[in-house]
Order: sequence, then C-alpha cells, then structure tokens
Amino acid sequence: MKKSLLITGATGFLGGHLISQAGENWNIHATYRQKIQNLQNVNWVKLDLNDLSQIEQILNTRKIDVVIHAAAIADLDTAEGDSELTNRINVLATQKIVDFCESSKTRLIFISTDMVFDGEKGNYTEDDPVNPLNSYGVSKKTAENYIRQFSSNYVIARSALIYGFSWTESQTFSQIMLKRTKKGESVQLFTDQFRSPILVNNLAQALLELADSDFCGTLHLGAPERISRYEFGILFAKYFSISSNLFIPIQMKNYQFKAARPKDTSFKIDSAKKILKTELLDCHNGIQFIKECSSSRQF
Ligand SMILES: NC(=O)c1ccc[n+]([C@@H]2O[C@H](COP(=O)([O-])OP(=O)(O)OC[C@H]3O[C@@H](n4cnc5c(N)ncnc54)[C@H](OP(=O)(O)O)[C@@H]3O)[C@@H](O)[C@H]2O)c1
Repeated sequence: MKKSLLITGATGFLGGHLISQAGENWNIHATYRQKIQNLQNVNWVKLDLNDLSQIEQILNTRKIDVVIHAAAIADLDTAEGDSELTNRINVLATQKIVDFCESSKTRLIFISTDMVFDGEKGNYTEDDPVNPLNSYGVSKKTAENYIRQFSSNYVIARSALIYGFSWTESQTFSQIMLKRTKKGESVQLFTDQFRSPILVNNLAQALLELADSDFCGTLHLGAPERISRYEFGILFAKYFSISSNLFIPIQMKNYQFKAARPKDTSFKIDSAKKILKTELLDCHNGIQFIKECSSSRQF
C-alpha cells in the first residue's frame, strides 16, 4: 500500500514540483489557502497556518506517514516587513506541526534555508554556527532549534536558492529573466552575492527520497558549487541563447534592501552526497535540464 504524504505550501513553487514528482508513489494530501493547483491525484486540504487551532484539527483527521512542511513566508522583504506574522507562520505553526508529528509518530521533513548563515564565510557545512541577518533567517533558525529539541524523526533540509520554472501562475526569477531578455530588456545581477543554487526539480526529488528514508538530522541541499548571481545569469544566457550583454553586473554593497542579504551562503554538500542516491546537479546540468523541459512545458 502507498504511504501517505502531506505537503504544506503545496500551492507554492517547490510544492507544485513535490506534487508532480510524488504522484505515482505516494497517497498525497496537499494544503492550500485559497486556490487549488490544477494537478491530478491530490487530496486538497484547506489550511491557513495563521489560524493555529486549525492545524491539529486538520492533521488529526487524516492518516499521514510523512509531512513535508514547505509552507512559509518565504520572501525576505515580506518577512522583514511583518516579523510578527513571520514568527506566527514560520515558527509557531511549525511548532504545532512538530508537536503533531511527534505525538502521532509521523516523519517530518522541514524546509529550511541558507539564510540561517550570515554569509561571511561561505562553503557552510551542517555543523557551522548559524547567525541569520534577517527576520526570515531568524524564524527558520528558531523553527530548526525547536525541531532538534522536540522531534525524534525529522530532517531539517536546508535549501539553497531555488531556481527553475513554476507550475503555478506566479513567475520565478528564472522565468522573469527569460521574459525580460526576450523583450530585449536588461537584467541586473550581483557579482558579489554567492549561492549554491538548486534546481527545483532536483530539490523535490531529493526531498521525496528523504521522505522515504530513515535519515534523521540536518542536511544541506544545493549545487556542488559556489556561484555569483551574475555568473549564474551568464550561464543561463548561454543555454537560452540570450545575448550576455543583457545581463548587467552590479554590486550588492551599493544597494539597500528592507531585509539584509548575506554575501556568501554557499554550501558544502558532502553529507548529502553520502546520504542521497539523488545526485545534486551543478548549474550547467540544472539549466540544461530546464532548457530541455521548457520547450515541451515539462517543468
Ligand atoms: N525559494 C527559495 O529560493 C527558497 C530557498 C530556501 C528555502 N526555501 C524554503 O522552501 C519552502 C518553499 O519555498 P517556495 O519558494 O516554494 O515558496 P512560495 O512559492 O512562496 O510558497 C510558499 C507556500 O507557503 C504557503 N503559505 C504561506 N503562508 C501561508 C499560510 N498562512 N497558511 C498556509 N500556507 C501558507 C503559500 O500558500 P499561498 O499560495 O496560499 O500563499 C505557498 O504555498 C519555504 O519553506 C521556503 O522558506 C525557499
């Protein structure tokens, strides 16, 4: 019999890819707030994490083996603008889900972020000390700590910057870059902000492997490389036959954001290489993959 998987944040960028890849192998329950995504074979469950009392009530009425908790206030500036709401959704709601999982012996896969680091060192391992610079990072760090303290069957999957195309109506940064440059418009990209970007399809595959494994602990999921946003754009330009002149190098230090951005949150992914069968793709292979899929809209 198929195991049951509950995906929170299923209407988001990552959530859509989790559903589309989990389809064959799992009995899927997926949460939404307003609008259901047009994806097949899913039991949709309405859940607003802002109403903490709903969480237990909804989870308790279903037989669930694994929760992938992807719902979050995930935009840095939105999180910075309303740290109270961010705390409620990213921390308090996560705590409720942890409590439910622990009392019902349900496995939990929590999506955390490279934003828990201050970006001064780069090449971060899972054991490096965290020191978030923004409210979003603080909320994820707090949720991580709660999970480590109160959960016995969990993965804290720290994702690097996610790229790729979305199943949803909202446009990802990759799609915006493509749309703008197709119209001949330029895109400004930082030369002094380094990440280990991960292809959304690749991330979803790794998370589903973890959902079905017995690994417990914290894991970094990102590309096996450190790359600036500008270098990423130039690679993107190569695969999508865009003139690299449309990508304008700029420096982060000359810009002010609501939420502070760490400089270098690149990952070391040695642990993931040991634990996962899924190979974490470098940006060459990841961008090539989306180029091939985009012509047939097989995101
Ligand atoms: N994107 C990245 O580069 C990145 C990098 C590292 C880690 N992450 C983490 O990965 C996860 C998925 O990110 P994403 O890029 O897929 O984000 P996203 O596209 O913004 O999706 C966020 C999801 O959370 C849901 N959500 C937000 N507030 C909610 C609430 N009050 N009640 C219930 N659901 C709520 C959203 O539902 P609605 O559609 O109804 O708003 C949406 O389904 C997040 O945990 C994020 O922190 C993302």
